[in-house]
Amino acid sequence: MSVDRRLTATAKILGHPRNAWYVAAWDHEVTAGGILARTICNTPMALYRTREGRPVALADACWHRLAPLSMGRIVGDELQCPYHGLRFNPAGRCTHMPAQETINPSAAVPSYPVVARYRFLWVWPGDPDLADPELIPDMHQMDDPAWAGDGKLIDAACNYQLVIDNLMDLTHEEFVHSSSIGQEELSDADFSVTHDDRHVTVTRWMRGIDPPPFWRKNIRDKFPGFEGKVDRWQIIHFEAPSTICIDVGVAKAGTGAPEGDRSQGVNGFVMNTMTPQTDRSCHYFWAFMRNYRLDSQLITTQLREGVHGVFGEDERMLKAQQEAIDANPDHEFYSLNIDMGGMWARRILERMIAAEATDVAAG
Ligand code: FES
Ligand SMILES: [Fe+2]
Repeated sequence: MSVDRRLTATAKILGHPRNAWYVAAWDHEVTAGGILARTICNTPMALYRTREGRPVALADACWHRLAPLSMGRIVGDELQCPYHGLRFNPAGRCTHMPAQETINPSAAVPSYPVVARYRFLWVWPGDPDLADPELIPDMHQMDDPAWAGDGKLIDAACNYQLVIDNLMDLTHEEFVHSSSIGQEELSDADFSVTHDDRHVTVTRWMRGIDPPPFWRKNIRDKFPGFEGKVDRWQIIHFEAPSTICIDVGVAKAGTGAPEGDRSQGVNGFVMNTMTPQTDRSCHYFWAFMRNYRLDSQLITTQLREGVHGVFGEDERMLKAQQEAIDANPDHEFYSLNIDMGGMWARRILERMIAAEATDVAAG
């Protein structure tokens, strides 16, 4: 397999589409009575909940003198500015001004569409009229009763696309994660890539191999004492703009997993969604969901902490890579065969970004 010629040249870092749903927070990060400040796509936002629990995202800068509303307080369903007390309702309209009866009709801050889904709060930083909840990427394993697990948030010191590149090519496991999930067979195994205008899928099977330590433990959680070879899979599902759910697992070798019978194996989904914070940083939300031993909190905790350790290795690499990019502004990216999945994801993003630029130009 060789890289499509059209894919070999790439900008190191692209911008990001604004007309898209991005995860702003885990649902538990925005609690009753609390205000969370978070920057999404270079836009500071203040997130809170109404008395009924509905999540709200307002621009984190007061209409009057730009004081951060996240430093203020919640009054009923409204945010009160910490500086001179202007109040803004969930739609962003000012409802109260100190020492004056009439409210300037232009007094408002942007209010961003928010949807609670899959244990996350999703925001739409772009044109609110286009914010169709149907476009929220599929992460149903997060709250499907057939799956159990948990995850965390990484404040990654890199552009979100570097994380997409990282997850679309898992051969890096051999080098970055050699003590847990890495093994030589990753680089040797052939893979296939399919795509449409919103999705890219990279499929890789490794048959009849020794399980690496992480997977040996997991298959023994389901089949105590298991010894022997396994068939291992990694099926990477990218959905634009920045969600990647990776179907991973191992099954006893030769029991039919590649043909669809996974009953002799263990299966997880590595759920990842990256939200641009600035051009050099992103909020990286991840979880590891499994479909076996659902009631074991011990396994949930062990998997979460195990993956947390693995992702710390990526975090260090991504930060170092971003620093090297900044130090070498003229050096281009070169692409290998392994980059094919990531290159298709970039193509989709380039199209989305170009379409928004055209819309803006057309006025
Ligand atoms: S800056 Fe918010 S009320 Fe003055
Ligand atoms: Fe990794």
